[in-house]
Amino acid sequence: MIAIGSDHAGFELKREVMKHLEELGLQYKDYGTYSAESCDYPDFGEAVGRAVVSGECERGILICGTGIGIGMAANKIHGVRCATCSDCFSADMARRHNNANILAFGARVVGGGLALMLVDTFLGTEFEGGRHAIRVDKIMSLENKYK
Ligand code: RB5
Repeated sequence: MIAIGSDHAGFELKREVMKHLEELGLQYKDYGTYSAESCDYPDFGEAVGRAVVSGECERGILICGTGIGIGMAANKIHGVRCATCSDCFSADMARRHNNANILAFGARVVGGGLALMLVDTFLGTEFEGGRHAIRVDKIMSLENKYK
């Protein structure tokens, strides 16, 4: 199950992404927003982050205007590793090296075509583990060190 969420700026692109996931036969849960009315992106970063760290969903996708604010909000939740990406190399490496569990991108930054490629790359790439696992563990230990 994939958790997906956006604010108003990402609402239309989120619909495109959900359609794409349906075409791929992938299950998702939409955590809002549910209209183009102005709203606050941290609410949706939080909802998707919680869904992922609780184990309800394996991965998450977040969209706001830039992908930055919603990703920052998600990363405040212990266990979230959200990567804001606007190129496929970064989306690939966010999985391979950083074991990112949430992808964020900006509807005002990327077009629909690139957005779907980012999603495909993120969902289709596995974490390499090994030396990268040691580094990711160090990232996660910062949550306790600076709480
Ligand atoms: C909303 O105008 C905009 O600030 C938001 O979508 C996002 O880009 C914030 O990081």
